[in-house]
Amino acid sequence: MPKPIAGFSKLSKQEKIDWIVSNYTQNPHEAEQIIRSYWNTDEKLQQLHDEFIENTITNLYVPLGIAPNFLINDNLLAIPMAIEESSVVAAASKAAKFWLSKGGFKTEVLGTEKVGQVHFIFKGDTAKLELFFKKIKPKFYTATENLTASMANRGGGISNIELRDKTGDLANYYQLHCTFETKDAMGANFINSCLEQFASTLKSEALDYSLFSEEERQLEVIMSILSNYVPNCLVKAEVSCPVSELNLSKEISPEQFAEKMVRAVQIAKVEPYRAVTHNKGIMNGIDAVVLATGNDFRAVEAGVHAYAAKDGSYSSLTHASVEDGIFRFWIELPLALGTVGGLTKLHPMVKLNLQLLNDPSVEELMQVIAVAGLAQNFAAVSSLVTTGIQKGHMKMHLMNILNQQHATEPEKIAAIEHFKTHTITHRSVIDFLTGLRNQS
Ligand code: MEV
Repeated sequence: MPKPIAGFSKLSKQEKIDWIVSNYTQNPHEAEQIIRSYWNTDEKLQQLHDEFIENTITNLYVPLGIAPNFLINDNLLAIPMAIEESSVVAAASKAAKFWLSKGGFKTEVLGTEKVGQVHFIFKGDTAKLELFFKKIKPKFYTATENLTASMANRGGGISNIELRDKTGDLANYYQLHCTFETKDAMGANFINSCLEQFASTLKSEALDYSLFSEEERQLEVIMSILSNYVPNCLVKAEVSCPVSELNLSKEISPEQFAEKMVRAVQIAKVEPYRAVTHNKGIMNGIDAVVLATGNDFRAVEAGVHAYAAKDGSYSSLTHASVEDGIFRFWIELPLALGTVGGLTKLHPMVKLNLQLLNDPSVEELMQVIAVAGLAQNFAAVSSLVTTGIQKGHMKMHLMNILNQQHATEPEKIAAIEHFKTHTITHRSVIDFLTGLRNQS
């Protein structure tokens, strides 16, 4: 077992690599070569990436694909998607193409409110705390004027600060529940800076409040942090068409298809085991665009899943209905994003991806990303209720095996033809190739 190391962060990049490969790999030379093969040849660009995080030794590439033909509120967009999973970009493109001739996607932002909280312990009289809060509330705004000035110029800022009594959940627990508008910024730094100032104002004002007892003055701030649960930072995307136009399957009629889609969504609404996978498919689309545009996919994931469980049981993020012969399919989900700040100007590829999307405002990006999620879900569920997803996946699997075996173009063509009517397994593909190679 290797020994723990002190001062790893102080080592040079080469020293870090030497340490990791010599302590944790069987073949240090080969490991170092792999690490180095992922360095960018442009040293400046590599340095930029090195400095995004700490202890960087190399880069891990994720492919970036384009899903074209997305008609969103009458704008035709090609969506950049960063994802390692095969079939996702193809599925998005297929759904986009299908809805292109049916009016495309209609979207709407329902809210852009962000949230942050100061969590504190107050051992005393709630009525006195409420009076105190009322008295000092304006001071929260004045004490943060230097922090909010430029956000206010852009039309954002603190929207509300509320005192919440949480003692029913936890003894002596209260919070300042604060809401913000952060315009095109994700706003994490802005919100956290405001919250830390609120906390300091709260503590210092409590110490000076004459109506508090000695114990009440010792109000204890536990932490101040934004919340990634943003149920009022919400976007909706929708597609609809006459049922008769849902000619997606050779095996079932458009009416049967529509009914199965609605049933599949109903199942995901009532059955958490299915809902999680159903929503995972949605996140295939969402995360890929969130990542491509330099946004925080962990924040989005956490917020989206909390929203999916908002009614007490984990449920589908999409909805489907058939009424008066019209099939409707829609999604509603919270998305806290930024199109300024963070990586958006710093990372050249992120910057380019935003350019490809016509340099969207946050509200525009929320709509594009909701559409990517809806398209992904439409594609996945339509496959599931018709052919199943294995057919497409096995085709990919076949290509992966052929590439691993360095199959030539004629070998690939022969294998694709052969496996139209034979079961694809790793063994069967190898046997087929060996047979072909032996023949020639
Ligand atoms: C796979 O990445 C995503 C699916 O499982 C989604 C779904 O089941 O709806 C195909």
